[in-house]
Amino acid sequence: MTGWQNTPFAIDVRQGDKLAFCMCGQSKNGPYCDGAHKDTEFTPQVVSFDEDKTVYVCGCAQSAKRPYCDGSHTKL
Ligand code: FES
Repeated sequence: MTGWQNTPFAIDVRQGDKLAFCMCGQSKNGPYCDGAHKDTEFTPQVVSFDEDKTVYVCGCAQSAKRPYCDGSHTKL
C-alpha cells in the first residue's frame, strides 16, 4: 500500500488474517495502521477474518462504516 486515496482499497484477506486499520487518517501506510495515532485520540480498528474474501476498505476517511467503504467517496 502507498497511502490514502478517494476510492476504496480492495483487499484480498485470508481466513485467520488479523489486520489493524488506521482510524486517525495519519498513517503513511493507509489503510493500515503504522502507529501514527500515538498522539491522537484515535486507535486502530483491528479486524479478524474467518474466511477468504475481498473486502473494500475506505480510503477517503469519510465512511460512517469504517474501516469499510459505505459509498461516501462518491459524494466528494
Ligand atoms: S472510499 Fe471512503 S467511503 Fe468509499
